[in-house]
Formats: sequence, C-alpha cells, structure tokens
Amino acid sequence: MHLKTIEWISTQKGSLTPGYARLIDQTLLPGQLAYLETDDIKTVWNAIKTLQVRGAPAIGVAGAMGIVAGIQRSRARTPDDLIRAVEKAGDYLATSRPTAVNLFYAIDRMKRVARQNRSLPPPAFKERMAREAVEICEQDAALCRAIGAHGSKLLKNGQTILTHCNAGSLATAQFGTALSPVYVAKEQGKTIRVFADETRPLLQGARLTAWELMQEGIDVTLICDNTAAQVMKEGRIDAVLVGADRIAANGDAANKIGTYSVAVLAREHKIPFYVLAPTTTFDLTLSTGDQIPIEHREAEEVTQGFGKRTAPANVKVYSPAFDVTPARLIAAIVCENGIARAPFGKSLKKMTEENS
Ligand code: MRU
Repeated sequence: MHLKTIEWISTQKGSLTPGYARLIDQTLLPGQLAYLETDDIKTVWNAIKTLQVRGAPAIGVAGAMGIVAGIQRSRARTPDDLIRAVEKAGDYLATSRPTAVNLFYAIDRMKRVARQNRSLPPPAFKERMAREAVEICEQDAALCRAIGAHGSKLLKNGQTILTHCNAGSLATAQFGTALSPVYVAKEQGKTIRVFADETRPLLQGARLTAWELMQEGIDVTLICDNTAAQVMKEGRIDAVLVGADRIAANGDAANKIGTYSVAVLAREHKIPFYVLAPTTTFDLTLSTGDQIPIEHREAEEVTQGFGKRTAPANVKVYSPAFDVTPARLIAAIVCENGIARAPFGKSLKKMTEENS
C-alpha cells in the first residue's frame, strides 16, 4: 500500500497552480487516518511545528509545498518581487523546526530555482515553483525506494530488526528510510520481523511505526523504550535500523532522542547498528555532530502528554527532541547511492559526489 504521506493537489486542470498540500495528519494516528488540506503557508508552518507532518524528508517536502502555498496568490508583478516572496516564505518556514536538514535543503533548492527563473512571467514562475516542489516530493519517494533496495541486502530471511521512532512511509514522501528495506525484503519474499520502540515522549514508534507496519502486513512487536536492552540480551534482535535528521561529515548522526542509547546497547550486544537516510539528510558543512542544532520541546509533552498529567505541576523538565549517535557506533550509513562504511569522512563524500 505504501501510504502517500504528502502530495500536491492542483485545483485547475492542466496546471499545478492554484493548488494545495494534502498531508496525513499524524497527530491523529493511530485512531484516525485523516488528511490536512491547506493552501495556507501559516497552516503548513504550524503542521511542521506540531508534528502533523514530521520525519526529516517529509518536513522537507512540506517546506517546499509551503513556499508554493505562500506565493501562488502573490500579486507581485516583477521577477524581483516574486523572488523576494519566495525568499520570505522560505525564511519563515525555516523557523518551524531546526534539526532536520532536509527542510533547509528543500528551502534552498526552491530559492535557487526561483533565482534561475527570473525571466518567467508571474503565472509561469509560480507554475515552475510548484513543479519543483512536486519534483522534490517525487524524488524523495524514489530515493527512499533506492535506500530500501540497498538496505535489503543487509537483511536475511527470518531476521528481526529493532527500530526507534518512525522512519517509515509516514516520515517521507513514501516508503521511508529505515523501514524501506523491510518493505523491499518482503517483496523479495523474505520475512523480516520488527521490534518498535514506543519512543517517548511523543510515541512515534507506538502511534506511527506500529500502525504503519501493521497496515503493510509486517510482523511488529511494540516495546517500551526501556525494554530494548532486554530484547537484545535475549538474542531477539539481529540488527538495528534507524533514520536520521542530519548527518555530519564525520558520520555522526542526529535522530530522535533515545537513538544514541539504542546504539550504545547495540554495541554492548554486538548487534550491527545501521543508519538509513537519503543524501538530502547529509550536512557535510558540519564537521561533527556537535554542530547539529538540536530542537528542544515543551515541558508539557513530557508532563502531560496526550492530555494526561503524569508528573507534578511545575517540575523542571529537560526535553531535547534529538540526540547525536557518534559515528564510531554506526556499522554503516545506507543512502540512495549505496552503503557507506567507516571512515565516513571519505565514504559520505563519495556518496554525495555520485549525485553530481
Ligand atoms: O520529531 P520527529 O517525529 O520529526 O522525529 C523524526 C525522526 O527522528 C526520524 O527518525 C527521522 O526524521 C528520520 S525520518 C526518515
């Protein structure tokens, strides 16, 4: 089935604009599969901020579509005014969430295409921007599919993997990153089982990964985050597969908070720990993971998540949304161009060079 997490819907036959973004509202899952449809840039910003759309690649696609939403009704008549409108929309969307570099990749790409198309009259310029956003979306699905093909080579029939957070279809345009090899392996006739960490505090593992895998007919077992060490010790896990929000030049990888502790546990139990991400998640301008900006979230997500108070009022809370797994704990980084291994300084550069 491979859900379409986000897409651009045109309201006029024969052109992409005017149109609107249609995305699965992930805050309603697993109870309800409902879509948010919007042609309003503020609503897109809010959807990213509140995790209605989340996961690094999906956030990038939403950013690109948000820019189109922001400019499609612009009355600007000169190319410079339209380019300024794209830049303003991009700068605004860039303030929504700081860690996933895919958002900044998509915004920069939209700005660059805007500058390259200054000779177009306004309607054609808007159409060109919409086409770029749709291409970012379609390319993301293709990159994820390729990650699945490479990643499936790491999985043998009958194996069980553990994953953290949601790096599946819901986190991308389609297919996912960490879960894509599981889907491809299924197509190849292999049976792969998944243990999903529930992923405190926002439960992306319980609400999204478990739901998505069940929709796809994959055998999934939900565990509390603090059960990961025990299932590894019991010999139930053959490999850990996770996504990433930003990967530095040395291979340090930021992903959902708790990923680092899973990597430490995997090392202790001699289980390979794999990171799967498209090259749009690589940030080779950062030499190490220490430079990755980490988002911090509201205390209420920890003290009264999903409306139920589970901690005393006014207790101090520390809630980084992501942590950085050091490269030395990572067995391989799988991207659309193949499987990169240490030393990552060299192998990641080579993987990105294949794009040019
Ligand atoms: O806060 P979220 O739900 O956006 O965090 C998502 C993750 O950490 C994912 O693992 C990551 O973005 C990779 S998605 C392919």
